[in-house]
Amino acid sequence: HTTINDYLRQYIRTVPDWPAPGVQFRDITPLLQDPKVFRVLIDAFVHRYMDPALRPDVVAGLDARGFILGAVVAYELNVGFVPIRKKGKLPFTTVEETYELEYGSATVELHADAVKPGDRVLLIDDLIATGGTMMAGKKLLEKLGAEVIEGAAIVDLPELGGSDRLRAGGLPLYTLVDFA
Ligand code: PRP
Ligand code: HPA
Repeated sequence: HTTINDYLRQYIRTVPDWPAPGVQFRDITPLLQDPKVFRVLIDAFVHRYMDPALRPDVVAGLDARGFILGAVVAYELNVGFVPIRKKGKLPFTTVEETYELEYGSATVELHADAVKPGDRVLLIDDLIATGGTMMAGKKLLEKLGAEVIEGAAIVDLPELGGSDRLRAGGLPLYTLVDFA
């Protein structure tokens, strides 16, 4: 008897000292590479968000690994997909949000017509570390009047405090694997 948490954990590779000394990078590419495992992963999200109480109108994915998951989940739910991109990539009118990183800051953008007021949005990324990226995504969607019903990710790094901050900021979360 293996839980989905233990099953998926085996396919997340830890790369020491990448991209900087002291960082243990949790790499999800092995999980995408194996078709059986990729299906288990996607089905976990699809099963949850098929529930009429949680079914979104739109899926928003965070640049870049949130695109891989978000697009497939949106397709399976038969709803649209919208990308939240790093600044300078989107061609049409955008809204933008700047947030603090460990060193410096980052800006993400969303097309101004990506969601409508009142849309119920599922926000997806691969991993929650400090939570800054997901919080910026939530703010962008809310600037356009949408309601972010939940944030979903494969991995949470709870010791960094991001998931606690996001929940405290009013964003329910669904994650599949925790790493200390
Ligand atoms: C990583 C990860 C999340 C974010 C998590 O993306 O995929 O998007 O950082 O960190 P946070 O919770 O502290 O904001 P990265 O910025 O490495 O971009 P990439 O997906 O384009 O490689
Ligand atoms: N893996 C992937 N993305 C990340 C990580 C990690 O360990 N930490 C911050 N963003």
